[in-house]
Formats: sequence, structure tokens, C-alpha cells
Amino acid sequence: MAAPEEINADMLAFWNGNGGYTWVARQEHTDITLTPVTDALLAFAAPRTGERVVDIGCGCGAPTLEFARAVGPSGRVAGLDISGPMLAEGARRANAAGIANVDWRKADPATAALDEYDLLTSAFGVMFFGDRVSAFANMRRGAGPNARMALVCWRTLAENPWMEVPMKAVAQYLPPRPKPVPNAAGMFAFADPQHVTEVLTAAGWARPHFEMLDMDLDIAAGRGLEEAVAQSTQIGAVNSWLRNQPAEIVSAAIASLREALAPYADGASVRLPGAMWLISSTPA
Ligand SMILES: C[S@@+](CC[C@H](N)C(=O)[O-])C[C@H]1O[C@@H](n2cnc3c(N)ncnc32)[C@H](O)[C@@H]1O
Repeated sequence: MAAPEEINADMLAFWNGNGGYTWVARQEHTDITLTPVTDALLAFAAPRTGERVVDIGCGCGAPTLEFARAVGPSGRVAGLDISGPMLAEGARRANAAGIANVDWRKADPATAALDEYDLLTSAFGVMFFGDRVSAFANMRRGAGPNARMALVCWRTLAENPWMEVPMKAVAQYLPPRPKPVPNAAGMFAFADPQHVTEVLTAAGWARPHFEMLDMDLDIAAGRGLEEAVAQSTQIGAVNSWLRNQPAEIVSAAIASLREALAPYADGASVRLPGAMWLISSTPA
């Protein structure tokens, strides 16, 4: 496995480069797809009026803005992320919505000085750390006396057909890739509850509680099959696999992807199962 500093450097380059800009361009679509997940995270985290929230890996801020609304003007949300372009988009959206109680901070949660908070949350933003234990230990240091944590993370690839179906559809056209390393930094790094438990308890958190969250995700965001194909090929693993491939390979892979997604189309939606963990804990 790569060294923590190497992982951090790669992530910084990705989320401030093409990756971050693609996320900004596709954010409206992604937010529609993930609205039911944001709703589930809010219900699970139960933010209260006046609370101080830290949102890790807040990105362009769809969940951040919902937390800001939930805690109201007497509360405050710190949105931490390493991606300049995504934070700028979050700040722009907050401004447009008249939401003034969010601090958008370009900072690494592994080293950032955190003000005392009541709630630490993250929607798919904690799986990319080079050194997870030291990142969660640093976040633990900022916890207020009755602080709690509420996260949402992906379960395994095999439990997430919205991702696996596109990956399988294009794989046959591409050169073989190295076998995935278990728990490696990336989308599925928090899929294994035993691993997550080891990380959190080593970082000074109580044994976490896990709740399964299973829901069909509309990867077309109500915009039809072609949009589902565009979303699948522009964000995530399929995108990186297709990069630098000859044009004829890319078009064959995309045609195969379209065919694989077509059976899931239902009017303008394309719904495939998604599987997540809702994870909670408190300082030990
Ligand atoms: C999948 S996106 C989720 C964004 C947002 N929470 C949402 O739900 O729309 C992952 C986010 O984690 C951020 N990220 C990656 N590595 C990070 C790190 N070491 N520290 C903080 N954020 C990180 C990325 O920049 C990106 O914004």
C-alpha cells in the first residue's frame, strides 16, 4: 500500500485538479441523486438548534447547507475540505441561498485546529485520508464535552450495483487492473465495520454503532439514460479507467455501459441499488 504522505499528495492533486472541477460541474446532478442519502444522514445525526457542527470533506456542500439550516442562525457549521474548487462552489451556493452560518475552510482534518464542536459529520468525506487513525485522533481533540459523530460511507462494491454495473460493463474493453487492496484509501475504505471499529477506537472514539442504509439511487437524476451514462463515465472509477484510452475503446466501453444501464431505466430515472453505513460514535 502507498505511504500516507503519498496518498495525501495524490488526493490533494486529484481534488484540486480534474477531479475537483468535474465534481463542481456535476454537483447539481450528484446532489439530486444523493438527496435521499442527505435526508437519511440528517435524520441519523439529528442536529439541534444552536449546535456547532464540523462537516468533514464537505465538498460543494449539499449536506453542509442542510446542517446549517438545521442548526439555524444561532448555530454554526465548519465545512472542512482539501479541495479549493469545491469549497468555492460551496461558498457560492451558501451565498446564493442566503446562508451565512458556514465557515468554508481549506484544511486537512488530520492537522486542522478545530474549535470545540457538538457534532462531527461527513457524507462520503472520510475515506480518503493517508493516515486515518491520526486524522480521527485530531478530530477527537476538537470534540466538545457531549460531542457525537454521525457519518455516512459506502459499503462494499459488490453491495453497490449503481457503481458495480458500470464498472463491469466497461471492464471487458480495458487492460486488466491491479487487484484492489482491502481498506485502501478511496470510496470503499470504510466498507468493513471491523476495520472502521479498529480505526475509531485507536483514535480515541467509543466502539461505533453501524446502521445499514439501503436505497435505490437515481443515477440519471431524473434526466434520462444518456445523463446516467454521462454521470457514470465522468465521476468515479469508470472515469479514471477510460482516461487516456484510444477513442474506439472509449466508445465501445460507453456503448456497453449504456446497454447495461438500459434495463434499469424507468421513465427519466435510472435506479440502481446503493448500500451505505450510517456510523455513529462518541468520544471514548
Ligand atoms: C465524495 S466527495 C463528498 C463531498 C460532499 N460531502 C458531498 O456529499 O457532496 C469527497 C470529498 O472529500 C474531500 N476530501 C478528500 N480527501 C480529503 C481529506 N484528506 N480531508 C478532507 N477532505 C477530503 C474531497 O475534496 C471531496 O470534497
